[in-house]
Amino acid sequence: MIQEAWVKAFGASPDAVVRAPGRVNLIGEHTDYNDGFVLPAAIDRAIEFAARRRGDRLVRVHALDFQDQVEFSLDAIQKDQAHPWSNYLRGVFKFLEAEGYRLQGADVVFGGNVPREAGLSSSAAVEVGTVALAMKLFGLHLEPLEVVRIARRAENEFVNVPCGIMDQFVCALGKRDHALFLDCRNLAYRHVPLRGNVKIVVCNSGVRRALASSEYEIRLEQCRQAVAQLRTTGLAVNSLREIDLADLEVASPVLTEVLLKRARHVISENQRVLEAVKVLEDGDLERFGKLMNASHESLRDDYEVSCQELDVLVDLALKQPGVLGARMTGAGFGGCTVNLVRTEAANSFADAVKAGYREVLGREAEVYICEASDGALAGAKIP
Ligand code: GLA
Repeated sequence: MIQEAWVKAFGASPDAVVRAPGRVNLIGEHTDYNDGFVLPAAIDRAIEFAARRRGDRLVRVHALDFQDQVEFSLDAIQKDQAHPWSNYLRGVFKFLEAEGYRLQGADVVFGGNVPREAGLSSSAAVEVGTVALAMKLFGLHLEPLEVVRIARRAENEFVNVPCGIMDQFVCALGKRDHALFLDCRNLAYRHVPLRGNVKIVVCNSGVRRALASSEYEIRLEQCRQAVAQLRTTGLAVNSLREIDLADLEVASPVLTEVLLKRARHVISENQRVLEAVKVLEDGDLERFGKLMNASHESLRDDYEVSCQELDVLVDLALKQPGVLGARMTGAGFGGCTVNLVRTEAANSFADAVKAGYREVLGREAEVYICEASDGALAGAKIP
């Protein structure tokens, strides 16, 4: 598919083809930028790239999903307000060059089926995919953590979205039929098998995450403030990762009601992730589902990043047969919910949630029945 699109755009044939998946977070929300724990999975929806080296310093990019194209020189990479989709690639090329990797120009075609602005990390897929493409195209060697770091740098410093490390990490290092358990403080990770007859079902509320970026920054700041306030009590903490709920309770008089709620979410969510990993390894999916439900309540009530549409999707989900757990996933304020559903019930679950959503809110939800899949670097012969 992507090869054909490349041939149509540029003729001849491409030198390199790569694929980078979207992701869904099973549990561990708003913990990554608090040095905490996350448990996402790469999904079987991806962005594909095909490209051919050029002899000069020009990069030409066709975006299949936008029916649009840009070109820029590697010697003058700037943000492009008119083609914002191109900034994810521009940022990656810019920082690869800035960090001393030798690039050449390229003719690139990319596109895929990760829904955009749905909280499934299509942007991380484009960033990680662009690094992987450059590696393949120009024979660069980057350690996996370097790939993740440069992809995230493009998002933080070029696109200017202050995200944590989860999305780029799992997009690069996810593994088929596994979730990825990551400690965001030291980047230690391990793959946890997703056993049993269950599907990861993602329900897209269709609500674009309008508030997501400003509210995200507010949450980031509130977590910093909470840590600063907690330190005034003599607690030697650098992040919310370092304390438990008992410590929080003792120190709580120094926190405002809002900061207390934010901290309580992060601390309890970290505990839930640790338990979730354990029960997943023990094959206790029922308990895993309960932890997902508790995560949603905490995000809704303490962290206050849910919205009516996400809450409706979760409530509908929990009424269906075969559902083990349901929660909002990603930054919040729209986007998707993630549901763990017994395989035999997945199709009827999808139909019932779509019908219910239409009935309650008069809106259409899309539902994707997903499998955990390989990240962009898995098994890739790069270079
Ligand atoms: C977004 C960010 C991630 C993470 C989640 C919330 O997806 O990109 O780094 O913070 O929100 O868990």
